[in-house]
Amino acid sequence: MDNNKIRIGLFGFGVVGQGIYQVIKKAPNAHAEIRRICVRDINKPRSVEIPAGLLTDNADEILHADDIDLIVEVIDNAEASYRIVSSALRRGIPVVSGNKAMIARHLPELIELQRRHDTALLYDASSCGSIPVIRNLEEYYDNDLLLEVKGILNGSSNYILSRVFDHGESYSDALAKAQALGFAESDPTFDIEGFDSLFKLVIITVHALGVYVSPDDIFTYGISSIHDSDIRYAREKRVKIKLVAQVAKVGNGCFTMFVMPEFVRSNKYIYSVDDEYNGVVVRGECYDRQFMFGKGAGSLPTASSILSDIMARRHDYRYEYKKMHYLDRPSYTTDITLRIYVRYRTTPVLDILPFSKIHEQYISDDSCYVIGDILLSELIARRPQLAANDIFIANTSTFFEHLD
Ligand code: HSE
Repeated sequence: MDNNKIRIGLFGFGVVGQGIYQVIKKAPNAHAEIRRICVRDINKPRSVEIPAGLLTDNADEILHADDIDLIVEVIDNAEASYRIVSSALRRGIPVVSGNKAMIARHLPELIELQRRHDTALLYDASSCGSIPVIRNLEEYYDNDLLLEVKGILNGSSNYILSRVFDHGESYSDALAKAQALGFAESDPTFDIEGFDSLFKLVIITVHALGVYVSPDDIFTYGISSIHDSDIRYAREKRVKIKLVAQVAKVGNGCFTMFVMPEFVRSNKYIYSVDDEYNGVVVRGECYDRQFMFGKGAGSLPTASSILSDIMARRHDYRYEYKKMHYLDRPSYTTDITLRIYVRYRTTPVLDILPFSKIHEQYISDDSCYVIGDILLSELIARRPQLAANDIFIANTSTFFEHLD
């Protein structure tokens, strides 16, 4: 018996939970032991064999136990996750969580709970699976030089785009595979409509710039409306379509952020990020660009990030949210002009979207597109009309080019 073992109460034994069980077994130096696992249905058949008696369906057997040092929460229901995590923090129990939807919606309150109850919530697994984005932003990039964080933050949508774009598979087959491989959320709408990327971007922004922006205030557009004509257009232009999330300082003490498909040229790092991989580019004033690349979804990659947080807790690590206390924090703006491609069929797009300038327009019976300049704030205001119609949008990324 190792008396120094960190004793874990695990909530959730799905794709990631089972991965955690496996990676802990592979890592004796973690000195971690899973004491109890709380699940909704004890009798559900599971592929990973575990000792009898480890499972419970009573959350209090973990939350009120005196032999648990750390709670690891990897259930996929954001409301239940919030109840578990907030009550654990209120009891002073540190938590490791991978629930990006819950964290992105409740982060200010969760930060306050950590402070008030002198405990810690770690969540590197919530953003980009196995890539250590949060801790790097929090510790290494802890200064004013950071200008931009941009990348592919969702493995499922990237997997779908890769299969459709590079392998000629149908969108629905690719989505079904992403689900079967355990990359997609239980409701894959979160992946393909950009919300999963959005939640990760909200969390990343807190650690990159020290500012929390509510997910409701950020423009988010996904890939579900992509058509063959969009893929043809991208191929002709020798670009790939990627679902990209970005936060960037834009001058005058402001920053902007959004999630949408982008035409990515072959000279960009994220052009070569395929399948379920994620890629994050960090741009700074004195070091130009740095690129982090790795598996963004899946059981063991995500579990390895949870393991890293478990080990960090052994050393009492916690996020200090230092940037939230900086004197000159940048302000969020949507008053920036983007040059976007909008593909439509019959919708009167020019009546809906107030372009300040049109650069290109193509009209045919099958499909039409326009490329024009538009304010991000106008896109946010028109988001419901766009989503209600068969419209695909892609950023042509010229806005960020001029920052280069
Ligand atoms: N559904 C998520 C993705 C899982 O595809 O990236 C990892 O957060």
